[in-house]
Amino acid sequence: MKIIKAKDYVEMSRKAAYYIADQVLLKPNSVLGLATGSTPLGTYQELIQLYQNGEVSFNQVRSFNLDEYYSLGPDHPQSYRYFMDENFFNHVDVQPENTHVPDGLSPNPDAFSADYDRQITNAGGIDLQLLGIGSNGHIAFNEPGNVFIAQTRLVDLKEHTIEDNARFFDSKDEVPRQAITMGLKSILGAKRILILASGENKADAVKAMLEGPIDPNLPASILQLHPNVTLIADEAALSKAGNR
Ligand code: PGA
Repeated sequence: MKIIKAKDYVEMSRKAAYYIADQVLLKPNSVLGLATGSTPLGTYQELIQLYQNGEVSFNQVRSFNLDEYYSLGPDHPQSYRYFMDENFFNHVDVQPENTHVPDGLSPNPDAFSADYDRQITNAGGIDLQLLGIGSNGHIAFNEPGNVFIAQTRLVDLKEHTIEDNARFFDSKDEVPRQAITMGLKSILGAKRILILASGENKADAVKAMLEGPIDPNLPASILQLHPNVTLIADEAALSKAGNR
C-alpha cells in the first residue's frame, strides 16, 4: 500500500482531490466508486473548486456509491443520496442519470443488490474507488465479522457504527439499523483504490489495516491484498502506525 502523508485534514483533502481529478483527466469516462461521511467532504469541496476553475469535467463520469441507509429515501437529509447531491453532484457537470446510490427504500433489497453488482460489472468495473475507514475498521458498511463477504447486500449495522454516526442525527435512536452496502468483490475489483483517513480516532484502525493480519474483524485489512491501493492520511491518523 502506498502511503501519502498529509499534515492535516485540509491537505489530505487537497491531495485526494488531485488524485481523483488526475484519474478523470486521464480517462474522462471513468467509473468512480464514491463514499460519503465526514472524511471525503473536503475532497468533494476541492473537486468542485477544480471543476469551477475549469480544470476538470465530470461530464462523462459514471459513479457508484458504496452504501445507503436502509429506510432512508433520497429526500431525507441524512440519506447518502441527499449527501452526494448536496455536497458534490449538484455542483459539478456529472449527468444525474450516471450517478448511482443504492436505493434505501427498495422493497426487495436482495434483488436490488444483485442488480447493483450487475450494473457495476456492466459498466466495466470501477476505475477508482474512494474509501473512508470506520473507527472499527469497516469499509463501506462491511462491518467486522467472522467472514469477508463479497456481494452487495442488506446488512445490520454494529452498535459501534450506530454510535459513531449518531452525531449526524438528532439522537442515536434515529440512526437506521440497516444499510445496503457494496460488498468487497466490487471494492477489491476496482482497478485503483484511494482510502482516506483523518484524525486521532482513526489511528488504531489505520495501524491495524497497515500492520495487522488480514482479518474479517478488521475489514479494511483485506486491502493489503489489492495491488494498487493508496492511503492518504493526516499525521493524527498515522500517529500509531510505526515508522510512517
Ligand atoms: P467518517 O466515516 O468519514 O464519517 O469518519 C468513515 C466510515 O465510516 O467509513
